[in-house]
Amino acid sequence: MLDKPGQLLRAAALAQSYRDLHRPGRSSVEPLPYEKATFDAEIADPPYYDNISYSDLSDFFYVWLRRSVGHLYPEHFTPELTPKRAEIIAVAYRHDDDKEEARRAYEQMMEEALRESRRVLAPARPTALLEPLQRRLTCRVG
Ligand SMILES: C[S@@+](CC[C@H](N)C(=O)[O-])C[C@H]1O[C@@H](n2cnc3c(N)ncnc32)[C@H](O)[C@@H]1O
Repeated sequence: MLDKPGQLLRAAALAQSYRDLHRPGRSSVEPLPYEKATFDAEIADPPYYDNISYSDLSDFFYVWLRRSVGHLYPEHFTPELTPKRAEIIAVAYRHDDDKEEARRAYEQMMEEALRESRRVLAPARPTALLEPLQRRLTCRVG
């Protein structure tokens, strides 16, 4: 809780500096649209196996958003449904109901995603990964 004017000013200055540093963007992780060693730190909250079917759930509201405001944001609403092929998820129905193949595909995509995130991180900089089941933050450097 910020209860003093000085704290508020410091918080505002910090927020401003983050705004200057922050580069909002939307992309698939593979590949990330950044040069090698661009970032000094990384925080990731990756999908976990078949915990949540993000794109299937998103389609529910995506189709309505596409119809109503899609023409304002054509760069986000070109496909009829949300992307599925590159989604990092372990769902068997995308692999002929083969659970083992779904698990293998998920782990391979996660490995590629982590390799790609390492590429855009400067050497010996920290990566913080949120572990979904325990909602725990794991931090690794180097
Ligand atoms: C655990 S959630 C993170 C949610 C995020 N922390 C938030 O508050 O919105 C994992 C996210 O990874 C996204 N995802 C799955 N495959 C991806 C991929 N290939 N590239 C980028 N994001 C992906 C999912 O759509 C989902 O939004």
